[in-house]
Amino acid sequence: MKICMVGTGYVGLVSGACFADLGNTVWCVDKIQNKIDILNSNKIPIYEPGLDEIVKKNYKAGRLKFTTNLNFAVKNSDLIFICVGTPTSKNGSADLKYVIQAAKEISKNINNFKIIVNKSTVPVSTGDMVENIISKKVKKNMFAVISNPEFLREGEAIRDFRFPDRIVVGANNKRFLNKIKKLYQPLVNKGAVFFSTNRRGAELIKYAANAFLASKIAFMNEVGNLCEKTDVDIEDVALGMGLDKRIGARFLRVGPAYGGSCFPKDTKAITVTGDKFKTNLSIVKSVIKSNNLRKTILTKKAEKILSNKVKNKNIAFLGVTFKANTDDMRGSTSLIMIPSLAKKGAKINYYDPTGSKKEFSKLKNVKYCDTISKTCANTDLIIIHTEWDEFKSLNFTKLTKRKNFKVFDMRNLYSHVDENKKNYKYYSIGR
Ligand code: UDX
Repeated sequence: MKICMVGTGYVGLVSGACFADLGNTVWCVDKIQNKIDILNSNKIPIYEPGLDEIVKKNYKAGRLKFTTNLNFAVKNSDLIFICVGTPTSKNGSADLKYVIQAAKEISKNINNFKIIVNKSTVPVSTGDMVENIISKKVKKNMFAVISNPEFLREGEAIRDFRFPDRIVVGANNKRFLNKIKKLYQPLVNKGAVFFSTNRRGAELIKYAANAFLASKIAFMNEVGNLCEKTDVDIEDVALGMGLDKRIGARFLRVGPAYGGSCFPKDTKAITVTGDKFKTNLSIVKSVIKSNNLRKTILTKKAEKILSNKVKNKNIAFLGVTFKANTDDMRGSTSLIMIPSLAKKGAKINYYDPTGSKKEFSKLKNVKYCDTISKTCANTDLIIIHTEWDEFKSLNFTKLTKRKNFKVFDMRNLYSHVDENKKNYKYYSIGR
């Protein structure tokens, strides 16, 4: 099939490359010339394990192409995917300016029947808006607008595309489902469930799924707080709960506040949609509040570990991104913890496998170190913030070359039973 991806960000580039890998011809379009130049020079502008290889392979095979020429790409495609960003606007709603712009530009290039597919995360009824924009220029029998939200996790996007639990498609006229089903057939053949509903249904499934996953995490983090007060091991609670098939074992891991480009944005956006349709999503609102408060709770916990004497203490942060296998800092708890501890006079070294971060570049007494040992040498407190594999079997005593230091493992990477036998004080979450 001939496909056009409008937007070569995280969703458009990953999905476009994976569609090409299924044998389709894919034009990835972006209005930013520099992005297209980077892609045409065989480089990848985003950090995503495995993406480099799949882009290069399909670019070389001539199935995957990059251009700023949206008109040409739309005219030469049957399926047009809108994969532009929907950032959070001032009132917390999803800003649809890029979706509107894309719909307008697409509507000028419909030279034969096209299926326009909203893959961006968009509020309920956005598909209706896109349809209205296009129908201003094009007869209704020349196009269809359907919803096909993505469920890709940063750091696991290729795997999540290739082995999705389900493919969700929303169409108000089932007539157009066959084409999109044919596109995804190779994944269905490997076990993915193809689920179709109406367009608004698909739009809401995306937001509700993300809001539920965020709620699951915030819920476990609060249960973790209770575990710390009642001498219970949260890991046992998570295992015991997760054996109930109605709960499921995944997304029960405690840690920092949830972050990323989606959970913070999508939980806020769905509450705004709720308010717009006069339905108060009070649970999601409380999840947002709980998650934001968590950043302060964990900062205070770090101070308490230092007996509230932070000034001139050496603190080492291992990992600062919102989770492992990504360079994304959006919503990361480190963005609150590091400035707050630095402001109280701590001397902070940090290391992250994805390198130094501009977010900390202007902070006095916050330094990026390019190795774990440099970060941890002579430190009073080692904080494991992100669950990178390289942090999972460290010899802290050797690293710090000190006797009296402490470890705060915010991802419970280590056994607190083993760690408490060592000659340093070990702290973790919910245990
Ligand atoms: C999420 C959704 O999972 C994905 O389906 C959607 O398309 C985009 O948003 P992403 O934000 O990339 O994906 O990462 P995810 O792995 O879901 O983690 C989100 C946050 O939850 C991270 O801060 C992570 O550390 C946290 N998390 C995740 C936990 O704290 N505990 C868990 O058990 C799982």
